[in-house]
Amino acid sequence: MAMVCLSDFEAYAKKYLPRIAWDFFAAGADDCSTRDENILAYKRIHFRPRMLQDVSVMDIRTKLLGTEISFPVGIAPTGFHQLAWPDGEKSTARAAKAMNTCYIASTYSTCTLEEISAAAPGGLRWFQLYIHRNRAVSQQLVQRAVASGFQGLVLTADLPYTGKRRDDVRNGFRLPPHMKLKNLEGAFEVCKMSLLDPSVTWNDIYWLRSLTHLPIIIKGILTKEDAELAVRHGVQGIIVSNHGGRQLDGGPATIDALVEVVEAVQGRVEVYLDGGIRKGSDVLKALALGAKCVFIGRPALWGLAYKGEEGLQEVLRILQDEFRLS
Ligand code: FNR
Repeated sequence: MAMVCLSDFEAYAKKYLPRIAWDFFAAGADDCSTRDENILAYKRIHFRPRMLQDVSVMDIRTKLLGTEISFPVGIAPTGFHQLAWPDGEKSTARAAKAMNTCYIASTYSTCTLEEISAAAPGGLRWFQLYIHRNRAVSQQLVQRAVASGFQGLVLTADLPYTGKRRDDVRNGFRLPPHMKLKNLEGAFEVCKMSLLDPSVTWNDIYWLRSLTHLPIIIKGILTKEDAELAVRHGVQGIIVSNHGGRQLDGGPATIDALVEVVEAVQGRVEVYLDGGIRKGSDVLKALALGAKCVFIGRPALWGLAYKGEEGLQEVLRILQDEFRLS
């Protein structure tokens, strides 16, 4: 079957992944309205195209905090890549490097951050952090990320508790016994998810800053008020995100929230977006509304499920071609 657009990879993943893995990737919180809105909102936005502009030469490269990437699409942090492909996050890192873009590796990876680093030396990688009740665990993760060459720290702000994803509850979702949350091995006995710290506040940005000189990017901002606070607390970047609709159901589509964040920030820090990017024209809409770059979550997992790093490269290449064409 020819893979023509990202929906083809979605259909493949749905057909061939074990049901429990597909449901985990697809899940949204509650009745999934925010998850679905992320996609529907793009269909309500229309271009106002101008004609007879010379488009014979195009340059779609951009920079993330000073580092050049081949086009403005990176890979959002998602957990458990071995559910999609045996090599897991190592394949993701290789695909991102081959396409010269940024990969944000999750705290909940099934490979260690050292393994991820070694799989694609020199690639642009940021590390996504959840803050644990035991701060020593998070501190150690930050130190390991710095030591293994990650170039940015992404603090996810929208998961004080894990959203209620009904199919995961019905399936009794848990990692198969041969897969591990490798970054946290030895840190806890069981039930790692519930050890996240719901008391995290803006002041913890100062704590993070005291641990590292890496740029700090905050992920999960949806309002102008929080965008202003993020800038005031000294972050270098903001990812407008609702966690792919997996956390608070009933919040806005990210593309709708982007405008107020961009207006509040006034160019003081870089603003990115994730959620619902499925076509090159979605990327163009997000850029036209002020995002510097976007990130894909589920489509990267579908690419991995199709053919590992080759599949993910194909997903990125299709998005790149569609973006150029738009
Ligand atoms: C996520 N997301 C996520 N975010 C994060 O900061 N840390 C994580 O470990 C995860 N894990 C995760 C797993 C799965 C299966 C999904 C689908 C998502 C959220 C992710 O970074 C991103 O915000 C959304 O996936 C973007 O939406 P799309 O591209 O999936 O529509």
